[in-house]
Amino acid sequence: MIKKAVIPAAGFGTRMLPFTKAVPKEMITLVDRPAIDYAIDEAVAAGIDEIILITSKSKNLIEDYYDRYYELENALEKSGKTELLSEVVGLAEKCKIVSVRQKEQLGLGHAVYCAADLVGDEPFAVILPDDLFLSKKPVLAQLKEAYEKVKSPVLAIQEVPESETSKYGIVDIKNNTEVNLFGLKSMVEKPKENPPSNYAIVGRYILTPDILKELGNTGSGALGEIQLTDAINRVAKSGEVFGLVYEGKRFDCGSKQGYLEAVVNFTMAREDLRDDFLNVIKKIKM
Ligand code: UTP
Repeated sequence: MIKKAVIPAAGFGTRMLPFTKAVPKEMITLVDRPAIDYAIDEAVAAGIDEIILITSKSKNLIEDYYDRYYELENALEKSGKTELLSEVVGLAEKCKIVSVRQKEQLGLGHAVYCAADLVGDEPFAVILPDDLFLSKKPVLAQLKEAYEKVKSPVLAIQEVPESETSKYGIVDIKNNTEVNLFGLKSMVEKPKENPPSNYAIVGRYILTPDILKELGNTGSGALGEIQLTDAINRVAKSGEVFGLVYEGKRFDCGSKQGYLEAVVNFTMAREDLRDDFLNVIKKIKM
C-alpha cells in the first residue's frame, strides 16, 4: 500500500521570477486555487494519506494555506457563507501534511532524500507540484495501479519532441510489459546529445526505499545538482524499474507558457466558468 507522498517544493523557481522572489511557485493561482492544491487532490484521490512537503525559506505560505484560520472561519460563519466555510475548513483536513526544510537547494534528488527518515522502509510516491495534469483517471492512481502489478518503481513517462530531450530525464526502454508499461534499461538526466529515446520522465513517481539508499550515495550530476534520475538509474541497472505512458495532458506550470496553457485548460474544465470564459476569449482582437 502506498500511503505517503513526497512533494518537493524547495526550488527557487527561477523561470517564474520575479513572482517567485516572495511567493512560492507552488502557490501560483489556477482559477481560484494554488497549483499545489491540485497536486494534493491527485494524491488524496490515489489513496495517499500523508504528504511530506519539502520546503525552504519563504515557502511558509504553503503551510498557512493548509492550516486552520479561525478569524476567517468565524467571519464566514457569521455571514452565513457555509459553502465557503466548509471549503476553507476542508483544506486543513484533506490529509496529514508534515514538512521538512531543505536547507540548501542541492537538487531534486537531495530534496527527496530530505524525506528519507519520514518515509521509512516503504514504497512512496513523489509528486512534482509544478507538473499538473488533466486526465480521466488521476495520473498518480494510474501509476499506483501499475505498481501493484509490477511491485517495482514506476515513473510517469511521455513522448517529447527530439528537440526537447535535453530538458528532461530520458529513459532507455528495455521491453514492453503491457501496451503502455515499459521495462527500463537505464535513464539519463538532461542528455546534451544522443538521447536513448524520446520518452521523458515527468513529475510523478512511485519509488521504493532502495532508491532512498542510493540517493544517500549520489553525488552531483547534470547542472551540478543531486539528481533523482541518477539514483533511479543505478537501481534500474541492478533491478527492475518501469515507465508508464500515462493517459492525460500535462502542463508544466513552472514555465510561463505551460502555466498560461494550464490557466486556459483548467478554466475550460470548470463548468461554472467555461461559457463566460469562452466569450471573453472570443472577444479578443488580434
Ligand atoms: P525545477 O527543476 O522545476 O527547479 O525543480 P525550480 O527551482 O523549482 O524551478 P526553476 O527551474 O529554477 O524555474 C523540480 C521540482 O523539484 C523541486 C522544485 O521545487 C520542483 O518541485 N526542487 C528542486 C527542490 O525541492 N529542491 C531543489 O534543490 C531543486
